[in-house]
Amino acid sequence: NKDVFTFYNGVTIPSIGFGTWQIPNEEAYAAVTMALKNGYTHIDTAHAYHNEENVGKAIRDFGIAREEVFVTSKLPAQVKDFDGALQHFEETMNNLGLDYLDLYLIHAPWPWDEIGKDCTEGNIQVWKAMEQLYDEGRIRAIGVSNFSIKDLQAILDNCDIVPMANQIPFYIGRDQKGLLAFCQTHKIVVEAYSPLATGAILDSPEIKQMAEKYGVTSAQLSIRYCLEKDTLPLPKSTHEARIIENAQLDFNISPEDVAVLDAMKDVRAK
Ligand code: A2P
Repeated sequence: NKDVFTFYNGVTIPSIGFGTWQIPNEEAYAAVTMALKNGYTHIDTAHAYHNEENVGKAIRDFGIAREEVFVTSKLPAQVKDFDGALQHFEETMNNLGLDYLDLYLIHAPWPWDEIGKDCTEGNIQVWKAMEQLYDEGRIRAIGVSNFSIKDLQAILDNCDIVPMANQIPFYIGRDQKGLLAFCQTHKIVVEAYSPLATGAILDSPEIKQMAEKYGVTSAQLSIRYCLEKDTLPLPKSTHEARIIENAQLDFNISPEDVAVLDAMKDVRAK
């Protein structure tokens, strides 16, 4: 089982990341410290999580060498102009208190209060700002989040640098087949956020039953599933026992069982 994914530019990213969405700033210091203490070397945050300050402080205080930890943050989804992108990047770096970022993502193709709005031109403008920051060496890799095939295609058609990552919601039963294939074709690493469907997966008796067969927990089966699908999981927890559990993934799911999980119904579908 591989320890890292490799972007097409050669930069490597640890194959499990610690997600910090929904961890308030007051809890982020303790949570990130626990993750680092238990061997996580990849931390995922965003300007919009309002916890960059304590995520960064935890990383700086921990005593780990900067190059030993992989840090991702994201440009707020509503920022769709070149100068705004540069400005927000500086703000993120100030919040984190770091001098370079490993991965910077456009948080979403549209503002969160206008999901689905066509912001193609804005996305092209902010991508050009990301390209500039990348060329200047401020960021080791650049990518997007929540982008559809159509959103990605607009970047491919109008920009110079192909995104290195697309971070999307992905978990057992969440059908992302077309998008996964598209990303694979373009060597875009897919990162899976909400690998436990924000916890909903844990209520499924079918998943529990399969987990028991492998002698693991439902959470471990679900996170391992993301890796079997060649996506990079970003589980989130603020409990140390779970943080440890979620990184113990030294087993494989058989192709037959992966197919069973593929066919499951989305636990969050209405
Ligand atoms: P908590 O942070 O209280 O531990 P996702 O990664 O899909 O967003 O899911 C996160 C949710 O799942 C959180 O509510 C988290 O709760 C919970 N969770 C994370 N890991 C585990 C685990 N190993 N067992 C049970 N619940 C978990």
